[in-house]
Amino acid sequence: MLFVRFLFSCLLISFHCQCAITTFVNITVDDQFGDPSTHSQISYMPPDAWSIAPNCSHCPDNLSLFPAKAYNRTWHDGAVRPGTVRSASLQFYGKLHVFDVILHSHPHFRKCSMIFFIDGVRMGSYSSELNSAQDQWMYDVVVFQNTSLAMTKHQLLIQSGQENGPDTIILLDYIMYS
Ligand SMILES: *[C@@H]1O[C@H](CO)[C@@H](O)[C@H](O)[C@H]1NC(C)=O
Ligand SMILES: *[C@@H]1O[C@H](CO)[C@@H](O)[C@H](O)[C@H]1NC(C)=O
Ligand SMILES: *[C@@H]1O[C@H](CO)[C@@H](O)[C@H](O)[C@H]1NC(C)=O
Ligand SMILES: *[C@@H]1O[C@H](CO)[C@@H](O)[C@H](O)[C@H]1NC(C)=O
Ligand SMILES: *[C@@H]1O[C@H](CO)[C@@H](O)[C@H](O)[C@H]1NC(C)=O
Repeated sequence: MLFVRFLFSCLLISFHCQCAITTFVNITVDDQFGDPSTHSQISYMPPDAWSIAPNCSHCPDNLSLFPAKAYNRTWHDGAVRPGTVRSASLQFYGKLHVFDVILHSHPHFRKCSMIFFIDGVRMGSYSSELNSAQDQWMYDVVVFQNTSLAMTKHQLLIQSGQENGPDTIILLDYIMYS
């Protein structure tokens, strides 16, 4: 562990040295249009468990859900088939932020809930019930971030729902990495 930390700080130092010529750039990967720099797309499994904005007839309170407030006016929602495991995955490079549209604590509804894996290792989770008592849709919510990843290629996997488990919803808007 110490050895890894040491290696990592060496890497940081060498990155700092290059800062005069290399600057970090944020790349925003839209849920629908994909990565503008690599042209790779987010893959959604199973495909028929996801649908895209603006049609969200199965979303609660959908009259107060505005595509215009979402990045590129799009989102992918995994609300169509309750009781299934749904996942979204993407390859990215370096630091990571994941943004969702979130419904906080809807009284009649399933919560927004998801688990995050990087390179196959579970790194964190998000559940709207734990975060706010507000009862409305929120945009640009950071549901996961990791700014201490090594500057190499990584695989992100976002999972929502369990097989025959409690109903959950996910509306993925965009993923940002730098
Ligand atoms: C990249 O995005 C993060 C998160 O929004 C922000 O804190 C950071 O300042 C941005 N960096 C650049 C270079 O725009
Ligand atoms: C909206 O999505 C539902 C399934 O979630 C589908 O049955 C319906 O046909 C869709 N409506 C439009 C206008 O795309
Ligand atoms: C909201 O849901 C209702 C039915 O639940 C549907 O008729 C309507 O088209 C939906 N609106 C949007 C914007 O998805
Ligand atoms: C998505 O939004 C960004 C930032 O506003 C814009 O630069 C880009 O052209 C948009 N992409 C599409 C396909 O609309
Ligand atoms: C971020 O990634 C590092 C390196 O893999 C890991 O040690 C750390 O626990 C992660 N932090 C979060 C908040 O996921």
